[in-house]
Amino acid sequence: MTDPVAGDPHTTAVRSTTERVVPAPVAPVAAVVTGANRGIGLEVCRQLAVLGATVFLSARDAAKGAAAAHELAAEGLDVRFVALDVADPASVAAAAEAVAGQVEGLDVLVNNAGGNFDFMHTVLGSDVDLVAGIVDANCFGAMRCVNAFLSLLRAGAHPRIINVTSEAGSFSALQGLPYQQDHLAGYAVAKAAQNAYTVKLAGALAGTGILVNAISPGFVATQPGAEKMGARPIPEGAASIVWAATLPDDGPSGGFFRDGEPLTF
Ligand SMILES: NC(=O)c1ccc[n+]([C@@H]2O[C@H](COP(=O)([O-])OP(=O)(O)OC[C@H]3O[C@@H](n4cnc5c(N)ncnc54)[C@H](OP(=O)(O)O)[C@@H]3O)[C@@H](O)[C@H]2O)c1
Repeated sequence: MTDPVAGDPHTTAVRSTTERVVPAPVAPVAAVVTGANRGIGLEVCRQLAVLGATVFLSARDAAKGAAAAHELAAEGLDVRFVALDVADPASVAAAAEAVAGQVEGLDVLVNNAGGNFDFMHTVLGSDVDLVAGIVDANCFGAMRCVNAFLSLLRAGAHPRIINVTSEAGSFSALQGLPYQQDHLAGYAVAKAAQNAYTVKLAGALAGTGILVNAISPGFVATQPGAEKMGARPIPEGAASIVWAATLPDDGPSGGFFRDGEPLTF
């Protein structure tokens, strides 16, 4: 792919997804982050708001989400709570309507909600209902949010869609990492689906100025005991996502990155 035509980010192609990008970051004006009442999502909200964005911190649990947004607003940041359960189409639609009532365009949609690190879940004798739920939250939830927020994103100045995925959904990692040969089966399937969705979506939106990337935050200390297993601090994982949220207009699309470095699908 080629560099964009200077000055017209909305009619251009984007750069290769395999080269290292040293971004001249753009400052987002408005952002939506899903699953943001705790963990990485909460810290992504903080970092985007520190950059000056109006951030819609969304969560499926209204009490927890409102409390988290209040905590960030008390730091002087423009963080607003919006209820959003990615598994519930009506909730996603209502959230999009609520955001559209407050901003004219959206620069960033971070599809962060999901997880379910069922480490012991193995592929043999898989609980299909369990896997369906994991895929629904991680992948179909992202699809619902993109569908609902796309018109607002089209009206954004520097629109970016970030699908928070994982090396657990990488075919090359699945072949290379012994611990992923059997365990984490449902999660791996869900994140592989989310990676594939990222590539298809980026292709469909090529030339619109909307950049779409799959981002791994790395192994992050959001679960009890994870730090002792080598997980890194939450702000570092969140920064990996914020990198993609602030990409310049000629940044990559359809890629898979951690800390700005390309990963293989
Ligand atoms: N931590 C890691 O090492 C790591 C590594 C690679 C990728 N990731 C990815 O990074 C993202 C965030 O991970 P995390 O470690 O911060 O996870 P986390 O601490 O378990 O938080 C997950 C968040 O997603 C929310 N969520 C789950 N289902 C939802 C739904 N249907 N609608 C709305 N929100 C929902 C949870 O809400 P509740 O509080 O209501 O449950 C929570 O806010 C996930 O997509 C995960 O797969 C994490």
